[in-house]
Amino acid sequence: MSISPKEYKERRQKILTHLNNDVLIIFSNFEHQKNSDVNFDFRQDSSFEYLTGFPEADSLLVLDPLGKDKFLLFVRPKDRTREIWDGFRYGPSGAIKTFHADAAWNNSELSTELKKVISCRNVQLVSKKGHPLNDEVNTLVSQVAKNTSPTTAFTEIHRLRLIKSKAELDLMRKAADISAAGHNKIMKEAPQLSSESKLEATFLYSCMMADAKDQAYPPIVAGGKNATCLHYNQNNQPTNPEDIVLVDAGCSWQNYASDITRCFPVSGKFTEEQKAIYAAVLKAQKACVDSVKPGTSMKEIHMLACEIMTKELISLGLIKESFEDAMNNRSFFEFFPHNIGHHLGLDVHDCDGLSPEERGRSDKFKLQAGMVVTIEPGIYIQPDNDKVDPKWKGIGIRIEDDVLVTESGHENLTAKALKEISDIEQ
Ligand code: GLY
Ligand code: MN
Ligand code: MN
Repeated sequence: MSISPKEYKERRQKILTHLNNDVLIIFSNFEHQKNSDVNFDFRQDSSFEYLTGFPEADSLLVLDPLGKDKFLLFVRPKDRTREIWDGFRYGPSGAIKTFHADAAWNNSELSTELKKVISCRNVQLVSKKGHPLNDEVNTLVSQVAKNTSPTTAFTEIHRLRLIKSKAELDLMRKAADISAAGHNKIMKEAPQLSSESKLEATFLYSCMMADAKDQAYPPIVAGGKNATCLHYNQNNQPTNPEDIVLVDAGCSWQNYASDITRCFPVSGKFTEEQKAIYAAVLKAQKACVDSVKPGTSMKEIHMLACEIMTKELISLGLIKESFEDAMNNRSFFEFFPHNIGHHLGLDVHDCDGLSPEERGRSDKFKLQAGMVVTIEPGIYIQPDNDKVDPKWKGIGIRIEDDVLVTESGHENLTAKALKEISDIEQ
């Protein structure tokens, strides 16, 4: 299961067509040092990955719509010593043979080979600070290219990435299934696990035992009031039996992300207050998932969540206004300060090369079949919120699924992760 050479080629073809006569240059990612001789895990640049599948650092993709050779790669040279220390490199011949580049060179050959391609041409380029080729490429472009053009191809790549192919969906389903199993496992084992760290370890163990080594983002494992911090990820506190734990975690599979949040009581039994907030979020979440279909906008779905949760918060006495006043005053914002969701794909927050409006914050941009979005409403009652009865303070609940937009509506890719109160308590 993976993306076929044909699909990579079709993606490049669409971008080549979009370029008119411009040359497009895209940097791969580069290694980031963690300390001394140790690097952070390498992850390929998503747009570079989308167009090439080439997995190595320090590379450069060049697309030349006017050339006899249109798909060009500059890659790290074969190097016996470095390969003994750091692992295999494809080198230019591997880039041609395995990744079907029309031509490829060592990345030390920019001053001759890249120069020939870009001389007197308009170039689309987004710099990548810290990439070992960044300065040389920029200098060459300023010296020999005719001009730099607006980087419309970069936006176009993100636009293409919005709609997932069958092969991409297979990879996303796999990531979703593995993550759902991981969430169910930690829910089951939580009463025996006394800390956020042990819960995180159990999720990672479950993913890695399914051969998903990478996480799409650092897991958030937040016990008790830590759940009211949206991007908490210290994950180093003990968990108490009376706490709810919020776990926002998802593995990636061949660089495609999953993104699931589940909340459960450590003891296995919700308190009355925890259950009330959980039920309010679940009601909104289910209604929002049900509303996913072509032609709806993320903005509409967001407003649906706000309306449902506002009514629930009023009935629980947490908002003390009429529904109309609360909506006009955006009183929900104190409890629900983020968006209903985001596109999901190669990146967990996918397609961020598009404007926020095009990604869903405007009614103008409607969902289309093939898009995958998260639906993740939440209610967070800050520990220092002195306007509410103390019994509510420090409760944080988010419920998040990954939802594919289909021709006829939607498919919840993460439905296997339990979220009904009775299932969780069981
Ligand atoms: N895990 C990050 C998010 O839910 O957006
Ligand atoms: Mn998310
Ligand atoms: Mn998430």
